Amino acid sequence: MIPARQESMPDADTDVGIPSFDGEHYQSQIQPAPTLSVRSDWSAQVLGKKQTPCQDNLQRKPHMCNHHNHAAACSAEQTQDYRLPTEVVPSRYKLRLTPGLKVTDDDSEEIYKFTGHQKVNVDILESTDRIVVNAKNLDIHEAYVLSKGSKRRFNGTVVLDDKNELAIVTFDRKLAAGKWTFCCRFTGTHNTKLKGFYLSVWEDNLGGKHQIFTTQFESTDARQAFPCWDEPAFKAEFDVQLVVPQKLVALSNGRDVKTESLGNGWKIVTYQRTPKMSTYLVAFCVGEFESSEPVFTNGKELRIWSIPGKNHLKSFAIKCAKFGVEFYEDFFGRPYFGGDKIDMIAIPDFASGAMENTGLITYRDTALLVDEDKASYGEKARVAEVVLHELDHQWNGNEVTMDWWDGLGLNESFATIMAYVAMNSMFPEWHIYNEFGLDRAQAFALDSLKTTHPVFAPINHPSEIAQRFDAITYEKGGSLLFQCIQFIGYETFRHGLRIYMNRHALANTRVTDLWDALEEACKLEGKNIPVRSFMDAWMNTAGHPIVSVEEISGKPGAIRLSQSQFLFLGDDAATAPLWPVPVHIRYKSANGTIKEDKFLFCDLEHEVDLGENFDWLVVNASGPGFYRVAYGASLLSKLTGNISETLEVIERFNLVNDSWAAVRARLMSATDYLDLVKTFSNENDPNVWAIIGSSLRALYGLTEGAARKVFKEAIIRQLVGPVFNQLGWQPQPGESVHTLQLRGQLANLLGTIGSDEAVREKARDLFEQWKADRASVDPNVVPALIAILAHTGNRTRFD
Ligand code: BES
Ligand code: ZN
Repeated sequence: MIPARQESMPDADTDVGIPSFDGEHYQSQIQPAPTLSVRSDWSAQVLGKKQTPCQDNLQRKPHMCNHHNHAAACSAEQTQDYRLPTEVVPSRYKLRLTPGLKVTDDDSEEIYKFTGHQKVNVDILESTDRIVVNAKNLDIHEAYVLSKGSKRRFNGTVVLDDKNELAIVTFDRKLAAGKWTFCCRFTGTHNTKLKGFYLSVWEDNLGGKHQIFTTQFESTDARQAFPCWDEPAFKAEFDVQLVVPQKLVALSNGRDVKTESLGNGWKIVTYQRTPKMSTYLVAFCVGEFESSEPVFTNGKELRIWSIPGKNHLKSFAIKCAKFGVEFYEDFFGRPYFGGDKIDMIAIPDFASGAMENTGLITYRDTALLVDEDKASYGEKARVAEVVLHELDHQWNGNEVTMDWWDGLGLNESFATIMAYVAMNSMFPEWHIYNEFGLDRAQAFALDSLKTTHPVFAPINHPSEIAQRFDAITYEKGGSLLFQCIQFIGYETFRHGLRIYMNRHALANTRVTDLWDALEEACKLEGKNIPVRSFMDAWMNTAGHPIVSVEEISGKPGAIRLSQSQFLFLGDDAATAPLWPVPVHIRYKSANGTIKEDKFLFCDLEHEVDLGENFDWLVVNASGPGFYRVAYGASLLSKLTGNISETLEVIERFNLVNDSWAAVRARLMSATDYLDLVKTFSNENDPNVWAIIGSSLRALYGLTEGAARKVFKEAIIRQLVGPVFNQLGWQPQPGESVHTLQLRGQLANLLGTIGSDEAVREKARDLFEQWKADRASVDPNVVPALIAILAHTGNRTRFD
């Protein structure tokens, strides 16, 4: 699915179904029973390779590194000025904030300020005369330390280093190593930039304006709300108090344990102490909020909050949340760590899709609120994905946290794939792993540019952190974990995660800790798989390979594989790296049995002798490998001769996606591509169609005049028309979500770039019908109606 944090990708608003995977997937899936010849042990082959990438590319210090993909990053100037010294370590913040104080500034503009007061228990590990914390856009009025038992007080002098977002508090004497309390008073301004402690304004039906004061701290904006050690490795407990008007709802990470009236229309709310956690996960939300009825699960109270009047849009997300908490508690073998409540709240102005603050998960409206009965599949799938993604973070990220932002993939790659694992369990009928193909396609697309980067690479400056929330971290990292799951087996993967979670709970990790835990699980299960070097090779290398497969003439049953880096503009890829490619071949032998072969391919070239002739053969069977495949002409025509027999959904998806990428890389002609696509005349999967559709749109954009007319008639309408006509406009009882989606997608293609007059006319009728009675048209086709009307519209219609 396409996350809100980025906009590019095919116009595919799709979905669909891989068989649920497990460790035995390779062995058990094929009909009739396969004779499985596992050519060799995966592990020996990984270990045997010299191409192990730079292992220490995550180090903070500059270092020498020969791996060509790292060269740019490694040689970049590295400045550590923005990093906090480590001799003073916080353990508990006692923080009181008073948000929403209206003041008038010099230009008579109304602005909102907050004041704060905090006392932080710190351990001074080495005697020092300064305490350095992060602070940004804060006025710190007073800073001092108290010795143990508050017997002595020393005042500090605050100097702000705006460039590095630091407040340096110096004392006129050395503070001895030991326990101290660091205290300060400060003031800040609520901004409207959706970061830090910001102001969100919404309008009611009568035009009345209402304020919400809410937070978004990831990655480095807690420092805009209170002076703090704003790096993920400085975990601490938080005792939060909010001082707010009596009539407002005020939420934070923990449950409110005490509310005291101040008598003047204001109240102080005290929240349950949080577990040890990083500052970027702290959250506050203050405003006029309403919640649905709570749902209870395993001792936790789950609620969904929003501005008033939206309780009818909460049933679907609450089901997903309940499922998610139960699923992850079981999956990771650990109860939710954050306390006894989880609030989820829709914020009208929100920068990304959602944010996993411990116990107070914030969302943009559309990622949480949905009318269960009237929504399209796509809208519901988005809510399920986001909710399950953020809930996964409560374990991956919140309880066990990367120790620096270069390990962001530990959070985001993980949550990407775990959301799918959980969705697959909650909605098996969605066949969601087929839809994951679209995520992978998005990763492939970005990773095919020269400017791509490894999933794990150094962060040289905080300004680089935001760039890492991209399709490489999310979708490529998630795809590589999916490849890993298939490689080591689902149960082993889970076993390893349990080791990892239990070993590092409430602490911080480097990515190697995860690979080591997975490798340990493999060992415990008698599998000799060097997970660490395998994963490092993929995660620390920019780009991905294309594996070319050719028959060897004069040797029936033998094929030659070769690998090289795939780039859209690949002329100067002189020193391409080699990847340990998990190859899974499925083929139909001449006597009609389906067989498999599985091996790790680490060289430039490799010959495979199947020992018998075959009818057809598919490489990257079941599709989890993060590589593209280019079949030689004879192999391709064997596959496309009877696509519905030879290829599973995800394999068809990969074939089309790889071929369309090959066109863009000038490895295949557009004519050959269109010939290939024509063999998909019986295709009924919306994900496969998403790729076909986006390629048709791209090609359409390249045509004009007479050529465009031919393209519309002879290609688009000929290809799409028959499939759409079989479906018709009217959904049939019991249709799968895939068929419902497909109808909208195909109508969209025909009515826009296909210029199909009949479809356009029907779209206009249905749109009028929908305006009169929303329930009269299937929600899955409404986006197509709007697309078609917009495509053929004018100013009046737009208005
Ligand atoms: N941790 C992120 C939110 C975030 C994104 C913070 C960018 C700072 C910068 C959150 O877990 C997330 O990944 N949200 C996604 C939704 C998800 C389903 C892909 C988003 O916001 O798009
Ligand atoms: Zn995330």
